[in-house]
This record gives sequence, C-alpha cells and structure tokens, in this order.
Amino acid sequence: MKFLLCNGSPRGKNGNSGILVDALAKGLSEHADVRIEKALLNRIGEHEQTAGALAAADCAIIVFPLYTDAMPGMTMAFFEKLAPYIGSLNDLHLGFVVQSGFPEKIQSRAVEKYLERLTGILGAQYSGTAIFGGGMSMGKNRLKLARDLGKTFLPSGTFDPALLAETSRMEKLSPRGIKVMRLITNMPLIQIPWIRQLRVNGSFKRRNDRPYA
Ligand SMILES: Cc1cc2nc3c(=O)[nH]c(=O)nc-3n(C[C@H](O)[C@H](O)[C@H](O)COP(=O)(O)O)c2cc1C
Repeated sequence: MKFLLCNGSPRGKNGNSGILVDALAKGLSEHADVRIEKALLNRIGEHEQTAGALAAADCAIIVFPLYTDAMPGMTMAFFEKLAPYIGSLNDLHLGFVVQSGFPEKIQSRAVEKYLERLTGILGAQYSGTAIFGGGMSMGKNRLKLARDLGKTFLPSGTFDPALLAETSRMEKLSPRGIKVMRLITNMPLIQIPWIRQLRVNGSFKRRNDRPYA
C-alpha cells in the first residue's frame, strides 16, 4: 500500500508540521505492508511531481499549520496542482492535520470545512481532519496521539473519531480565558517578535491601520 505524507509548512522539516509528519509515519510504519513517502510542499518546483505521487497513492495525509486563520499559500498552490486529477481519485483516502499556535479549535473550523469540500470536489474519500490547537507545545502526549492517529488510520483509511476528539479539547476560550489571553498577549515580551517583523517590513508606524474599517 502506498501512503503519502505531505508537509505544507513553509518551514519544511524544521517546523511543527514536520514533527507531526514524523509521528504519523511512526504509527503508520507499524503496519508491515505500508510504503511511506514524504513530500515537502515548500519545494514549490516539485508540486506537479508530488501531485502525481498523491494521485498514485492509496492514502495521503496533508499536514499544515494555520497561518493567519488560513492555510499557507504554498499548500493552496499545491491543491491547485491537483485539478488535472479530478475524477480519477475515487480510491484515494485523503486526510488532513491542521495545527496552530493558539489553543482554540474554532479558528480551524473554516479551513476544516474547506478541506472536506475540496476532497469532495477531487472525488476522493474524506478521511477526516485532525485539529491540533496550541502547536507551539509539541509535548510527549501530543506526539503519542499523532502516532496513534497514524497507527489507527489503517485499515479503514480514516482517522479514529475518538482520537480526533482528543487532539485539542478546547473549542473556544472561556470569557475568563479571553481576559487572561488579552493580558498575556499585551505583555511587551510577547510583542517583541511581532514588533521586529513590523520594523523589518517598514510597517511599524502603520500597525494600527484598519484599511477595511
Ligand atoms: C505568519 C504566521 C501566521 C500565523 N497565524 C496563526 C493563526 O492565525 N492562528 C494560530 O493559532 N497560529 C498562527 N500561527 C502559529 C502557527 O500556526 C504555529 O506556530 C504552527 O505550529 C507553525 O507550524 P510550522 O512550524 O509547521 O510552520 C502563525 C504563525 C506564523 C509564522
């Protein structure tokens, strides 16, 4: 059985998506008959080749981070390369892992809906979407869960719903949680990386602009 694991992070192997891909692969490799191939979607020049590998696979899982409430542009660009295969992917089981920095699952729900719709448009079998909030902490429990998600993906070709419910328990912050988060995110130390990015991009003075207001 051919299994393709795609990493849709611009950070490639060095990011949190790469860690989750490796954990999924560990779980999957407990099945003797599985041949796992990994693809990095930050190699944009290889997208067509990777699209071909996906079309030839029995199962695929695409892992990517949430960037500004959406998928990274290179993940989207890869999806567009799948257009020539529409109608020929009926036997493909296709699953997704979306992981984010903030803890709430709700921020990944829109992209989850899109992924289910995309799978339908491609004509593949939807295997589900695992949503991991709070991706900055890739602890032991999270990696075990990812490994178990890989292991139990087969033979059915879908994620185990009980494990999906475990990935992040928090759908939304409580009103008190929102207050705490506001306090934390306004701390100068937390702001430093964002301020640095604003300065690098020459947009610090315009940081409070509201062009759509
Ligand atoms: C440009 C950028 C935008 C991000 N936007 C969000 C976001 O909207 N929501 C969120 O929870 N995390 C956001 N994050 C955090 C990432 O989702 C998180 O750190 C993730 O684990 C990164 O995965 P990677 O290392 O595989 O790229 C963002 C990170 C970056 C660099």
